[in-house]
Amino acid sequence: MTNKKISINSDDGKSAEFEVLQGTHGPGCIDLTGLYSKLGYFTYDPGFGMTGSCKSGITFINGEEGILLHRGYPIDQLAEKSSYLEVCYLLLYGELPSTDEFASFSATIKNHTMVHENIRDFINGFRYDAHPMAMLVGTVGALSSFYHDSTDISNPEHREISAHRLIAKLPTIASYCYKHHRGLPFMYPDNSLGYTENFMQMMFSVPAQDYQHNPVAARALEVLLILHADHEQNASTSTVRLAGSSGANPFASIAAGIASLWGPAHGGANEAVVNMLENIYNSGETIETTIARAKDKNDPFRLMGFGHRVYKNFDPRAKIIAKLCHDLLDDLDGDQPMFDLARELEQATLADPYFQDRRLYPNVDFYSGIILRALNIPMNMFTVMFAMARTVGWISHWLEMHSDPEFRIGRPRQIYTGHATRDYPGAS
Ligand code: SDX
Repeated sequence: MTNKKISINSDDGKSAEFEVLQGTHGPGCIDLTGLYSKLGYFTYDPGFGMTGSCKSGITFINGEEGILLHRGYPIDQLAEKSSYLEVCYLLLYGELPSTDEFASFSATIKNHTMVHENIRDFINGFRYDAHPMAMLVGTVGALSSFYHDSTDISNPEHREISAHRLIAKLPTIASYCYKHHRGLPFMYPDNSLGYTENFMQMMFSVPAQDYQHNPVAARALEVLLILHADHEQNASTSTVRLAGSSGANPFASIAAGIASLWGPAHGGANEAVVNMLENIYNSGETIETTIARAKDKNDPFRLMGFGHRVYKNFDPRAKIIAKLCHDLLDDLDGDQPMFDLARELEQATLADPYFQDRRLYPNVDFYSGIILRALNIPMNMFTVMFAMARTVGWISHWLEMHSDPEFRIGRPRQIYTGHATRDYPGAS
């Protein structure tokens, strides 16, 4: 709370004062509670670009300075020094775990990596060519049908075990979606392995031969998962909060988040970036024509992997991923020409006044697809990877919402622009 107040005087002589709330970091927020009752007005902020929907202690973003903190820790330090499972603990519980706490948390997550055998049948019910995101949305939503014993959202223990189940099972389900798409046998989790290594063996091993994961690839994937774990009130996280605010169970709420992430303007951008780069390769598009299309207001095409609703500077995650790309492509026998092309496109775009004037920079999706390809993850699985990583962020916000004393069902208003009242023909 600050002692600042904002006065609003309406044109019919009414006036009211509103508190300015101040968080740990970031701009003050005008608390407009009571605006309608005091002055008879709603607010209008399409896309909620300047509207605080909640109070949260999980992640802070400074879009002007390109800063991203998780529970106060800078993303570059977490990417360099932490592990994805440790970041999961940090996001869920607010502090880095002690050695014993981490051992107990890891054991709990390992205890939930398997899924009910019927899930295999469920996934096998999809067409062979179903997009993995379609399978993921459906399967995660269906998980609630297996856990009637723990979907009482008023019970903190039910909320916590649901969080553990989701974090533990997403890699298993993601790998099943991939295997189904390839017509390959599903692989069971191997709890002797770490979180990321276990995912890799479920994705890439087959019963017919031994599998040894590449430690360089495993670390690259670990960093990618850390960089995608959470990102404040983005579209999919806000969707999870809004869905969950009605009392929907955690599996249904996370499925709603997965659906929102699928859009190419959000999590679907990593797949769209590689398509865009391949287009430049294969279809005669050039960097110049691609940039020209992105600037043409008559063309709906946007430069995928560029721009951000919040960052008006470099997305700090893009910088880390670009370096990861640069360091790893040799080790991983990656697509160096595609990385070189991405670099060239980045340089050309950053030098273009259109992008400079609009402060459009590479975002997290611009380079991530190149690394995912180097990890032999197919393009239609890119957004599944994003969803797998972001599940801990989504469920952390869902838990925080349910512990928020100001929690209530979300219900935005509107400016009605339809017909004025009129009678049905013949109505008296
Ligand atoms: C993610 O919110 C999050 O935190 C999301 C995310 C997360 O971790 O959860 O960070 C992950 O979703 C990253 C974004 C991935 N999406 C893409 O890369 C798709 C391409 N980017 C654009 O679609 C766009 O930049 C958005 C959707 C990301 C942001 O859209 P906005 O907020 O509408 O963009 P803006 O208001 O800042 O646009 C300002 C101007 C507009 O032009 P003018 O009307 O001023 O002439 O910039 C233009 C826009 O048309 N513009 C672009 C552009 N992005 C914005 N022009 C060309 N190419 C682009 N990519």
